[in-house]
Amino acid sequence: MDAENTLLQPGAPSGLASPVLVLGATSLIGRFLLARLSAAGIEPMALSRRPPSDDICWVDADLGDPDLAKALPQVGTVFSLSPIWLLPRALPALKARGLSRLVAFSSTSRFTKQDSPEASERAVAKALADAEAEVEAFCAAQGVSWTILRPTLIYVEGRDGNVSRLASLIRRFKVLPLSGAGAGRRQPVHAEDLAIGALEAAQAPAASNRAYDLTGGEILTYRVMAERVFQGLGRRPAILTLPPWLFRGLLTLLKPFYPGATAAMGDRMAQDLTFDDGPARADFGWSPRDFHPRF
Ligand SMILES: NC(=O)c1ccc[n+]([C@@H]2O[C@H](COP(=O)([O-])OP(=O)(O)OC[C@H]3O[C@@H](n4cnc5c(N)ncnc54)[C@H](OP(=O)(O)O)[C@@H]3O)[C@@H](O)[C@H]2O)c1
Repeated sequence: MDAENTLLQPGAPSGLASPVLVLGATSLIGRFLLARLSAAGIEPMALSRRPPSDDICWVDADLGDPDLAKALPQVGTVFSLSPIWLLPRALPALKARGLSRLVAFSSTSRFTKQDSPEASERAVAKALADAEAEVEAFCAAQGVSWTILRPTLIYVEGRDGNVSRLASLIRRFKVLPLSGAGAGRRQPVHAEDLAIGALEAAQAPAASNRAYDLTGGEILTYRVMAERVFQGLGRRPAILTLPPWLFRGLLTLLKPFYPGATAAMGDRMAQDLTFDDGPARADFGWSPRDFHPRF
């Protein structure tokens, strides 16, 4: 660890090197992580292109900026909540500023989208996998302790583009069409649980130099997940089961309301996208909530 870094701040969780910098603080997880760090007696710094809030020490910087080092403060622990493919270019600057502990979010999409029929989705999977490998290699070479966390589908009621988008569609159209039976299994995970998990992982010796898949507390079919969204809105589920070919046509019509919609999304409703969070439970007490969103 760099001499400038203090291992502990008063009241800080043990083992967390300071100062603490949060990349991607305006992400779904950021607000919860900043609050948890503050509650633990740590004053985190936040880096993003937009300010996360008024009362935070904010570094206004772009991770792609070749002059990033000039904007960076001294750091000890870095939580990376921004897309992991931005991290490899930023790592030398972070290391030059004292980085000794890195907890970086990636995504289980690196596995679920690697064989997608959509080229753009395969490109995302490759970018995630390549970035993970680069982060691991850099940290191993530079003596930085790293942990990579791969969440499944993240939600925060009213804020995310997955579960909350389903809720918006339900509010608007009253019924929700699904492609086929919607039997593919899912594990939606709340952003607040991910913030707690990141903080725990950063302090757990067993989590050093390892990658984990982080899932929600329950395995549900896509259909049951949709029913829970209806319940969270205080509505009785009204689900329309459509043949996949018809769903694809509907998706084309709905595209103006659902930017980023792809044909592969309907097909995935039949696929299991499940992962094992057992190693995270064992190594840093990962204990996510069941899926009962409230809107
Ligand atoms: N959403 C999901 O369902 C999901 C699922 C699995 C994994 N993940 C991963 O979990 C993490 C958080 O996801 P999220 O959906 O909450 O992320 P998000 O909303 O897309 O936020 C990304 C964050 O990165 C920052 N950022 C993006 N480009 C930047 C740049 N060039 N320079 C500096 N900051 C930049 C953004 O801040 P500004 O725009 O303010 O700069 C924002 O705070 C990400 O690593 C994501 O890949 C997400």
